[in-house]
Amino acid sequence: MITLSIDGKKIQAPPGRTLLELAREHAIWIPTLCYHEALKPYSGCRLCVVELATPRGSRLVAACTYPCEPGAVVRTDSEMVRQSRQVAAELLLARAGHVPFIQELAASLGVHNTPYTLPSDDCILCARCVRACREIVGVGAISMAERGPGREVVPPFHISSADCIECTTCVLACPTGAITLQNIIDRDRTLHTWPSQYARRACRLCDYHADSLLQNEG
Ligand code: SF4
Ligand code: FES
Repeated sequence: MITLSIDGKKIQAPPGRTLLELAREHAIWIPTLCYHEALKPYSGCRLCVVELATPRGSRLVAACTYPCEPGAVVRTDSEMVRQSRQVAAELLLARAGHVPFIQELAASLGVHNTPYTLPSDDCILCARCVRACREIVGVGAISMAERGPGREVVPPFHISSADCIECTTCVLACPTGAITLQNIIDRDRTLHTWPSQYARRACRLCDYHADSLLQNEG
């Protein structure tokens, strides 16, 4: 076992634990967004930062990826931590302040307004959809593309994905509702959906067939 200190408490951890996993086991709250228990840590949102004391001074590390180390001294609620999380929350509010989940998350960090201005978007680029598709379904029908302000979730060639089987795992993984079940059922080409080339078949029990139903309604 490894012994380390979190918020002044000596805690023992089995080898291989991340700081976030250990904190959760001991009911120490650390906010997260891009983290999901079923996915490999991504370290994208920086909401989970904690302060790590080192011989050369303190630094911030992402708790979701940083491993427990013997003798580590960690603070989860220092001024340095609060300021960093506040900026991350302000940036999230600037992008997706209209999304209730983001409003609640920011409020939990004491952030209700933002000094930043960004193009409004439901997608906060956490990549949970992309990682769920690759790691849980084993498909990889979508990916993150571009850098900076143009970064987005896209299917191959921005058109459609021959690999997408419409399992809707991405819908379940998305924390903001940027991808909806209805988008996928409708094969809607609006933002953040990716029409698949998967041939649908009618349900053997109820004979429901999404494509024929849509045609009939049209
Ligand atoms: S669509 Fe949803 S899950 Fe995918 S990156 Fe955007 S916010 Fe995250
Ligand atoms: S939850 Fe750790 S960086 Fe997003």
